Amino acid sequence: MPETKRNILVTSALPYANGPIHIGHLVEYIQTDIWTRFQKMCGHDCLYICADDAHGTPIMLKAQQEGITPEQLISRVSAEHQKDFSDFHIQFDNYHSTHSEENRFHSTRIYERLKKSGHITTKTVVDLYDPQDQVFLPDRFVKGECPKCNAKDQYGDNCEVCGSTYTPADLINPYSSVSGATPVKKENLHYFFKLNDFKEVLHDWIENNPLQPGITNKLKEWFQEDLRDWDISRDAPYFGFEIPDAPGKYFYVWLDAPVGYMASLQQYCDRTGGDFDAYWNADSQHEVYHFIGKDIAYFHMLFWPAMLHGANYRIPTAVYCHGFLTVDGQKMSKSRGTFVKARTYLDHLNPEYLRYYFAAKLGPDVSDIDLSLDDFQQRVNSDVVGKLVNIASRCSGFIHKYFEGKLTSAFIEGGREVFDHAAQRNEHIKELYESRNYSQAMRSIMKHADEANQIIDAHKPWELAKNETKRDQVHQVCSFGLNMYRLLIGYLKPVTPSLAQKSETFLNTDTCWSDLASGKPLPEGHQINTFKPLITRVEKKSVENMIEDSKQDEAPAPADPINDEITFDDFAKLDFRVAKIVQAEQVEGADKLLKLTLDLGEPTGNVQRTVFAGIKSAYAPQDIEGRLTVVVANLAPRKMRFGTSEGMVLAAGPGGKDIFLLQPDSGATPGMRVK
Ligand code: MSP
Ligand code: ZN
Repeated sequence: MPETKRNILVTSALPYANGPIHIGHLVEYIQTDIWTRFQKMCGHDCLYICADDAHGTPIMLKAQQEGITPEQLISRVSAEHQKDFSDFHIQFDNYHSTHSEENRFHSTRIYERLKKSGHITTKTVVDLYDPQDQVFLPDRFVKGECPKCNAKDQYGDNCEVCGSTYTPADLINPYSSVSGATPVKKENLHYFFKLNDFKEVLHDWIENNPLQPGITNKLKEWFQEDLRDWDISRDAPYFGFEIPDAPGKYFYVWLDAPVGYMASLQQYCDRTGGDFDAYWNADSQHEVYHFIGKDIAYFHMLFWPAMLHGANYRIPTAVYCHGFLTVDGQKMSKSRGTFVKARTYLDHLNPEYLRYYFAAKLGPDVSDIDLSLDDFQQRVNSDVVGKLVNIASRCSGFIHKYFEGKLTSAFIEGGREVFDHAAQRNEHIKELYESRNYSQAMRSIMKHADEANQIIDAHKPWELAKNETKRDQVHQVCSFGLNMYRLLIGYLKPVTPSLAQKSETFLNTDTCWSDLASGKPLPEGHQINTFKPLITRVEKKSVENMIEDSKQDEAPAPADPINDEITFDDFAKLDFRVAKIVQAEQVEGADKLLKLTLDLGEPTGNVQRTVFAGIKSAYAPQDIEGRLTVVVANLAPRKMRFGTSEGMVLAAGPGGKDIFLLQPDSGATPGMRVK
């Protein structure tokens, strides 16, 4: 009986736009992609939606470091992410960005609805403020001791040791990670979402959700106390959406991030004529699933459903959490070369190896999964190459050699039972996919591959073929083998889509789940195509090279050795003087330079010098006019693009806003020698 067609919306978490996709991320995108491909293969209407998470302080800072705008950064990273995903056969129906008009629209709408129903409140909060840089410090920029467990050097938003979340003001002995200064307290107005208004709704939702062991305890903990108001505003400078009625205040990145799921669906619907409301209306009968890592469960199981409910939208059908990836039993590490970028992997290995390996490891729960590099090589070689593809390669030659590439539906003795048994298992395998129990599904598929190989081994077609009177049996063994292959590669299609597609070309069929479920072998006389190698073995060398390359990725910046020694006399030639900046001007067309007019003071006979200095990022002209600096006074003039520079001012610092140029004014006078 044909199943009724389901309408399913599936998302993976939106990757941050400040860094590349790595193999840890891929656990999630591969897990989700397998699930959505499976649903589509079963004939359901299933959409896989994602986007880049483009807002927040880290992205702003990263752009600053690179000397580009955040918009430039996020558009470059988005292109890189999408190429990585597509090369891993991760097939989104739509990929968008949280920095988009669709997202601004939906975020604002949700916020306004929440506000109208009284779920938004404001409070004056005592914030930490960097007195040196004169900015409010975002959570991540304050470090200090965890207020719960006293672990040192924890970020201002959560503790990596005990997992508790708090605000930066709760930290013990805080310091600014920008300037190192001790932050001072300063009053500031914040906007809050009243999460506790939704305690009951959330409680019911979670009760009715098929819970994953491992998540249950966390949830119980959360519900023991009242749920705290959630701070949803951040102060400028911030890369995000300004809060409509609050100039200078921005939505915290985690407010508009999950709305990105809607924004991307909106873009999809606008592009294809789809029905957005059918997915999100409060009474929607469609299914909505979020696949996420366990680290972001809090956002997806509390804030997000509460926001949705408060804004009169439906709540997700379920949120599925997975665990974290370790490599050889340890956290991914840059120095060990196990922090492997998607791109570095692709430079060395076939993406379907990793897809299969993750599938073979992934269960429905939140336990971490380990990529053991030796096991990876062995498992893929033994299962995919040795057991499965081997069936096709050992049977196809005979079919072409003796039977013009035509199959028979009469199977060799014992074959029919093995085939029927494997075909009947489709229901079981289907349930395993549906419940994200991929590791069991892989085990089941490989068990049937073993059985197929046993039949082939028992009848030895390569022996039978030597005897002309036994050709019928050769035909029957090999046709059995290829039918088994078709069935099993069909079961594996969500996991290894490219291998499956090449196999379908070779077998001259295409397969959806109902074909597999029919239990029918390919018809008598079915013509197959010539066999071309479908997949090669994982080479140990390739794995090693990938790890080596990943170490290179993280090689420290090239050393900057000290210049050749100079003599004391060389040094004595340099004439350092205190100089007064009498004028500082912008230089048209120059990104970094200010034009300084320096007065070297009475002792030098009031010499004036024009110097171009690369300090624009740190100083505004009006802030340094009249101040003192140190200049190399006897440097030969040098012609530059914007004019001639007649000296060099001395400055040091990491760059950006931190270039230290000025001489303390106390006691120094222009023209003084600097010793
Ligand atoms: N931008 C947020 C998600 C916003 S969703 C509205 C974010 N981004 S992330 O790039 O840090 O992570 C994206 C997903 O990858 C998350 O679900 C995260 O759990 C997952 N993983 C990141 N590193 C991982 C591992 N090492 N192992 C497994 N999953 C990992 O969080
Ligand atoms: Zn702690």
